[in-house]
Amino acid sequence: MGTDLVIRDLHVSVEGKPILRGLNLEVKQGEIHALMGPNGSGKSTLAYTLMGHPKYHVDRGEVLLGGENLLAMDASARAQKGLFLAFQYPVTVPGVTLANFLRSAVSAVRRARGQLAVEAAGDGASPQEVLIPMRQFRRELLERMRALGIEEEFARRYLNEGFSGGEKKRIEILQLAMLEPKIAILDETDSGLDIDALRTVAEGIKRLAGPELGVLLITHYQRILNYITPHYVHVLLDGQIVESGGPELATTLEAKGYDWVREKHASVA
Ligand SMILES: Nc1ncnc2c1ncn2[C@@H]1O[C@H](COP(=O)(O)OP(=O)(O)O)[C@@H](O)[C@H]1O
Ligand SMILES: [Mg+2]
Repeated sequence: MGTDLVIRDLHVSVEGKPILRGLNLEVKQGEIHALMGPNGSGKSTLAYTLMGHPKYHVDRGEVLLGGENLLAMDASARAQKGLFLAFQYPVTVPGVTLANFLRSAVSAVRRARGQLAVEAAGDGASPQEVLIPMRQFRRELLERMRALGIEEEFARRYLNEGFSGGEKKRIEILQLAMLEPKIAILDETDSGLDIDALRTVAEGIKRLAGPELGVLLITHYQRILNYITPHYVHVLLDGQIVESGGPELATTLEAKGYDWVREKHASVA
């Protein structure tokens, strides 16, 4: 059995207000799903819930990752089991370069997965502090940056320098490439992304996609789907998935907007 993400009858509230109201969704490794929906329908609420954000309270339902209860895992266990959630990193860390940040983040996950020989520590470093050897990490990082078309200089930037929306997306994709997750959740919150950034994300996902990776791409706008064709498209409305289909559903949404979905499912609200 693969490391599938299974969401069953998920009910989530924020500050006592019910937002997700019985959401069902399965993302298997190798599949690309787009979750679309009007603003306020609960898309980011799902992302935050999967991330384990304390503000998002699960009232009912379950989320399984590879058959295990995801909701009972802490953030590092989620990553270790193969879930990738964008923006798990602190946006500002004074004096830390992107490369160093990625080195410790990727090392942590590999340690937990047993992919990093901790006994090779030396220098009195405790097993929790063992990092991927610098030279190996540099090689891997540069290789992936090259494959994703990211300039080398980028890795030397400091995290507290402030990255633009597009640059954050680039970091996200780079982190995704380095962590080799089984299931990746990407919330395309930033509607202000320029076309270049959009392309970076789409091309990145395309390059990384394959039988080992399942993707849940959360997006309000259809435009990113011009660059990447999902296998499945779902429409979230008032906390429930009311429509599911193939890529043609996204095309319909582009042409007709969300109004027809609202009319068709008026009883949901
Ligand atoms: N942290 C929060 N505090 C209060 N309300 C929230 C919070 N997050 C989401 N909500 C509310 O939940 C609803 C769904 O929001 P969200 O999940 O961001 O939708 P989407 O991402 O689809 O635009 C909105 O009514 C929003 O106001
Ligand atoms: Mg959102």
